[in-house]
Amino acid sequence: MTSAPGTDMHNSDLAEKVVVITGGSRGIGLAAAKSLGALGATVVLVGRNLDNLNAAISALLDQGVDADSICVDVSDGAKVLEKVSQHSLASQADILINSAGVMSEKMAKTLRTTSEEWHRVMGTNLDGTFNMISAIGPQMAQRKSGRIINVSACLGRFSGPGLAGGLAPYRISKTAVNALTKNLAAELGNGTRGVLVDAMCPNHTRTDMGGPDAPRSPEEAADTIVWLATREHNLETQTGLLWEDRQIVPW
Ligand SMILES: NC(=O)c1ccc[n+]([C@@H]2O[C@H](COP(=O)([O-])OP(=O)(O)OC[C@H]3O[C@@H](n4cnc5c(N)ncnc54)[C@H](OP(=O)(O)O)[C@@H]3O)[C@@H](O)[C@H]2O)c1
Repeated sequence: MTSAPGTDMHNSDLAEKVVVITGGSRGIGLAAAKSLGALGATVVLVGRNLDNLNAAISALLDQGVDADSICVDVSDGAKVLEKVSQHSLASQADILINSAGVMSEKMAKTLRTTSEEWHRVMGTNLDGTFNMISAIGPQMAQRKSGRIINVSACLGRFSGPGLAGGLAPYRISKTAVNALTKNLAAELGNGTRGVLVDAMCPNHTRTDMGGPDAPRSPEEAADTIVWLATREHNLETQTGLLWEDRQIVPW
């Protein structure tokens, strides 16, 4: 990691920006919301549990962040479209961070995974990412401005620690999120039309998903998300890639 979260970013950059963060009610998404809010952004959290959302919003408001929420299950495409389009800020968001995710059951090897478990994980991790992009991405493409950051996982890579067996629905959902990222970035001209689309691996993090013994804090995990959300966009900007600790890693 090159510096503490937020240290090479510019507060004023996000003063007029709206950031939508799925999974923003807890864990890595909430840490990203706090950092981006501290940089002046208005944040809209998306989650399915109203109590968790309210607790997160109250923590952000206490911190002086302009925050709102949308309570929706991201796997439900019709509801996502309805709720996002009714929210004038969210539907015109400058930055979309897809952090909502669920883990597979522990013994979820391919031959032991039920169809129900497969669809539960794919529904949130892959369909949820697609549904949010479908609701917000067209406005970004039309405005020729926007950033989409998909929180993936190293377990979904074709290289390194990825696809080594086990946790099949989870790993494969993240591989598919990576594919969605690269494909969408190409469709949007790999940044040449003003919209940056990237995936990132947060690494093993102390959240409800990662458990209390994970080595990273949610703030450390969110650093690359915040960096991607706030970096300069010019002709040299690299996009359509998978990032870890602000570095490009192989898919
Ligand atoms: N933690 C790790 O070690 C780790 C490592 C690699 C990658 N990741 C990835 O990082 C992302 C964030 O993980 P985390 O550790 O922060 O997880 P977490 O603490 O378990 O939080 C998950 C978040 O996702 C939301 N969510 C889950 N399913 C949803 C759905 N169907 N609709 C709307 N919101 C939903 C939850 O909202 P509710 O409160 O409403 O349930 C919560 O805000 C995930 O995509 C995960 O795969 C995590």
